[in-house]
Amino acid sequence: MNELIRKDFPCLQQEINGSPLVYLDNAATTLKPKKVIDSITHYYTNLSSNVHRGIHKLSQDSTIAFEKTRETVREFINAKKIEEVIFTTGTTGSINLVAYSFGEFINEGDEIIISEMEHHSDIVPWQMLCERKKATLKVIPINHDGDLDLNQLNELVNSKTALVALVYVSNTLGTVNPIEEVVKIVREKSDARILVDGAQVVAHKKIDVQKLDLDFFTFSAHKLFGPTGFGILYGKEEILNAMPPFLGGGDMIDKVTFEKTTYNGLPNKFEAGTPHIAGSIGLGAAIEYLNTIGLEKIATYEDELTSYTMKRLNEVKGLRILGNSKTRTTVFSFLLEGIHGQDLGMVLDQDAVAVRIGHHCTQPIMQHYKVDSTVRASMS
Ligand code: ALA
Repeated sequence: MNELIRKDFPCLQQEINGSPLVYLDNAATTLKPKKVIDSITHYYTNLSSNVHRGIHKLSQDSTIAFEKTRETVREFINAKKIEEVIFTTGTTGSINLVAYSFGEFINEGDEIIISEMEHHSDIVPWQMLCERKKATLKVIPINHDGDLDLNQLNELVNSKTALVALVYVSNTLGTVNPIEEVVKIVREKSDARILVDGAQVVAHKKIDVQKLDLDFFTFSAHKLFGPTGFGILYGKEEILNAMPPFLGGGDMIDKVTFEKTTYNGLPNKFEAGTPHIAGSIGLGAAIEYLNTIGLEKIATYEDELTSYTMKRLNEVKGLRILGNSKTRTTVFSFLLEGIHGQDLGMVLDQDAVAVRIGHHCTQPIMQHYKVDSTVRASMS
């Protein structure tokens, strides 16, 4: 089965420095199966037209292919309606949309809670919002194993909490956060809205936004075997309806006059300008590809892979893994005593093993463990 799946990925068919590519940088971006590449090529070869604007056949076919992904995504995350699925440029774009648009409801003295294990894209937009609105940013600490301190979350949430924004899976530690418990704590103690950054979870675990009772959920196509520059913001319809538009321009309007402009309904209200049409088509193909394998099967295999990797890494003398969560997925950050990460990365690259070296856009995690950078291997 695994050999068959490998064959679906043209990028894996090549050799680097005379060795077959071993791609262990899936948390940065996943490789693309042929089905996804073909769907994008098909769009640019045969359709190549703008959406929502043309009466001609190619534009209509482009619109159908572009919009089909909305239903595919709705089903994938079990949103109630396609209107709740907003196309964006990716997780960063989605979080910034919420920070600017929902951010209009934030008042002086409000509190926003994030965690110590957030990616910079789930830290900086909230810091910028807090600065604009004179709100306060609070941080749930992590323990040495790289798990959230839920007692601290319990202490932090109160009637002033307006939003809790949290990563589902840490891109650096691999920790899978107990989102159900987090939602329970937040709902019991406040009316805060909850945003979950799902960038690192969607390729590993089935998500049901209704069952989890999330207000917002974000992810990027490229972490899910789809193209870069495209992603999703899920939001509950009543909240998205109340939120003001973020970017102004074509497609997001109802009627424009110099005196007053009225806005389109959902989801177009948040989709100004010509979108990444091939991105949407590619994401649709990626989700279909994933569905043919099955997320349950993927999760089972990745659990085996996680145990195996842990065991083998622990056999390496002088190797220190950051974090040791009981609920973790296939992301491993580590250091090797006496060897600089850059050097290790270069040696691995010589053997065609692709890993990432650095702070992985999570400098607060580096500060927590008192290191500058790590070597990160992330499997899929
Ligand atoms: N967020 C991506 C990573 O973790 C880029 O590498």
